[in-house]
Amino acid sequence: MPFQVHEKNFSSQETLVSRKRRVGDAFPRTIVALLTASFLATAVPACEGEVEVERPRARHATKSSKSDNNTEIVVTPQKVATGAELFARNCVKCHGNDAGGRVGIGPSLRSKTFLEAASNKMLLATIAEGRLGTTMTPWKSYIDAAGREALVAYIRSLTPHMVVELDESPLRGDPEAGKPIFESICVQCHGRSGAGYIESSSGTGIGRHAFLSTVTNGFLRYMIINGKSQTRMRGFDGVGAAVIANLDDQQIEDVIAYLRAHTW
Ligand code: HEC
Ligand code: HEC
Repeated sequence: MPFQVHEKNFSSQETLVSRKRRVGDAFPRTIVALLTASFLATAVPACEGEVEVERPRARHATKSSKSDNNTEIVVTPQKVATGAELFARNCVKCHGNDAGGRVGIGPSLRSKTFLEAASNKMLLATIAEGRLGTTMTPWKSYIDAAGREALVAYIRSLTPHMVVELDESPLRGDPEAGKPIFESICVQCHGRSGAGYIESSSGTGIGRHAFLSTVTNGFLRYMIINGKSQTRMRGFDGVGAAVIANLDDQQIEDVIAYLRAHTW
């Protein structure tokens, strides 16, 4: 199916159908889907056809690999206070007050969908190692492990959220099919080679090894489907009035495969 790019809106019929699917939006979609799926599996096995239609974003509801989310950080008021202080001193100038982001300078760290999808491991690694080739430098020589953990506790404290279980099933995409999607949509905000801010883009460097090596396919799926809330990165699931394009499951797999195949 060819993808459709929308300037601002899409047909009213589509809107109606999509809105209906948003019933579970107050909760992390994956969790709702998981609960729905397991409840229905035990309680109403005969209704499978109907389930397909009603389940919100059911395609996330597969088992996650436990490997990426296992760094536990207990968020205590003390840690949050230490983190806030470190953040004010070292990070605010790029990431903005309350980590709300500064377009073209530092991404939002308090975005709800971002915090739902980002593992502690990813956040800690990014703070320690930075993102080579961008202005996000490594902090491990300046801020010790306890300080970096306090920073993550602070960032997590900024927006109420629950870390969701991501769909870490094997990638099913075709890089060749993903190429035209990347080139017609993603480059508009992430730069021609996905270099991000350096290419005068509003989006970050999603083509870079320094980014892609720290995130899982489940993270990428989640961010592309749901968007990065509180930023210009809209979801690509065709839901919501501000959607930029409709991408179906396969097209999202394809664009991720393209990113993976062209990491630099
Ligand atoms: C000089 C500017 C600058 C400073 C200072 C800075 N960052 Fe960053 N940070 C960036 C940029 C730019 C990126 C995104 C780079 C990219 O991937 O294109 C980033 C990315 C991140 C990310 C990943 C966010 C995402 O959307 O994937 C985290 C987490 C982060 N920074 C935390 C911190 C913390 C914590 C501090 C303070 C200790 C800090 N940064 C200081 C510029 C900065
Ligand atoms: C309208 C502009 C726009 C378009 C089009 C766009 N993005 Fe984004 N994207 C952004 C912005 C802005 C951010 C977040 C930057 C920030 O936090 O300040 C972002 C963030 C992301 C992130 C999360 C990175 C992180 O760690 O925070 C991913 C993944 C991503 N985009 C993938 C894509 C892909 C794949 C496409 C093409 C299908 C795409 N984007 C198209 C603007 C866009």
